[in-house]
Amino acid sequence: MKFLGVAITSPIVLPAGILGISTSSLKRVIKSGAGFVTTKSISLKPRAGHAGPIFAEFKGGIVNAVGLSNPGIEVALDEVNEFKETSNVNAKIIVSVFGGSVADFSTLALAVNNSKADFLELNLSCPNVHDEFSHPFATSAEHVFEIVHAVKKVAQLPVIAKLSPNVVSIKPIALAAEKAGADALTLINTVGPGMLIDPYACKPILKNKVGGLSGPCIKPIALKIIYETYQAVKIPIIGMGGVTNGIDAIEMLMAGATLIGVGSAVYYRGPNVFKLILKEMHEFLTVNGYGSFQEIIGKAHHG
Ligand SMILES: Cc1cc2nc3c(=O)[nH]c(=O)nc-3n(C[C@H](O)[C@H](O)[C@H](O)COP(=O)(O)O)c2cc1C
Repeated sequence: MKFLGVAITSPIVLPAGILGISTSSLKRVIKSGAGFVTTKSISLKPRAGHAGPIFAEFKGGIVNAVGLSNPGIEVALDEVNEFKETSNVNAKIIVSVFGGSVADFSTLALAVNNSKADFLELNLSCPNVHDEFSHPFATSAEHVFEIVHAVKKVAQLPVIAKLSPNVVSIKPIALAAEKAGADALTLINTVGPGMLIDPYACKPILKNKVGGLSGPCIKPIALKIIYETYQAVKIPIIGMGGVTNGIDAIEMLMAGATLIGVGSAVYYRGPNVFKLILKEMHEFLTVNGYGSFQEIIGKAHHG
C-alpha cells in the first residue's frame, strides 16, 4: 500500500500542532508506531501565539487556543532536517505551513523546497488578512483554489491541503483544492471555535475566550466530511478528528481515508497511543477476516 508514491509502513499520522516540532518528540512518535509526523504549523516569521490558559479539557474533548505559536520557518526547517538526518529512512515528515496571503504561502513553499521534508501541508484554516472579516481561506473554494494553485507552481514536494470542517458544504472546497493540483487532502482541522466557562470564576476558561474543538466529540463530524469528500475527489485523504482507538481509525478508513491522524488521543492515552491503535486496528482486521487496510478504504460506501 502506498501514499503519494511512498510505501506505507504504518497508516498512522501525527497531526499538526499536537507535539510541536522538536526532533526528539517527533522521533519518539515514529518509534511508537506512527509512519508519518506533521510539524506544528509554521509561518514565515516567529509567532508568540495566545496567552494562557490556551488549553482546556471537557467531557467530550479538548478546546485549544494555541494561536499558532511557532519559531518561524528558518528554525523549523533546521529541526526538520535534523529529524530526517537522524531518523530511519521510513520516517516521513510533513511540514505544515500557514500564512495570511497567497504570497506568504508561496514563499513558505519555496523555503520548504530547500529542506529534507517529504510533504508540504497547507493549513488553510488561518485567517485571510486581505478579507474584511478575516475569514479563514478554507471557507472559500475560490481562495483555496488560489493558494493551492500558487503553491503548486513553485513546490517541489507533494502538496496536501488541510481543510476546515467549519463550512456549509465541503464538496466544492475539496474539489477546488483538487482542481488546483493538490496531491492529497487532510480532513479535518478543529471544529468551532467553542467556549468553556468557569462558573466559579464567572468567565471563559481560555484567555482567548474561544478555541478549536478536538477529540472524541468531533469524530461524527470528521466521518461525515471524509465520507462526502471521498465521493467527490480522486486524491487520497488523511482522515483525523477524534480518533482515540483502533475502531475509530477503522471507521475513518471505511469513510474513505487512506491515512489516519491521531492527535488529541496522545493526551488521553499517552505517547504510546500510536502503537496501541495500530495493534487494535490489526485485531479488527483479523477478527473480521480482512487481509489488509487497503481492503476497507471506502468500505462504508458500499454497505
Ligand atoms: C493543541 C492543538 C494544536 C493544534 N495545532 C494545529 C496546527 O498548528 N496546525 C493545524 O493544521 N492543526 C492544528 N491542530 C489540529 C489538529 O492537527 C487536528 O486536525 C485536530 O486536533 C483533530 O484531530 P484530533 O481530534 O485527533 O486531535 C491542533 C490541535 C490541537 C489539539
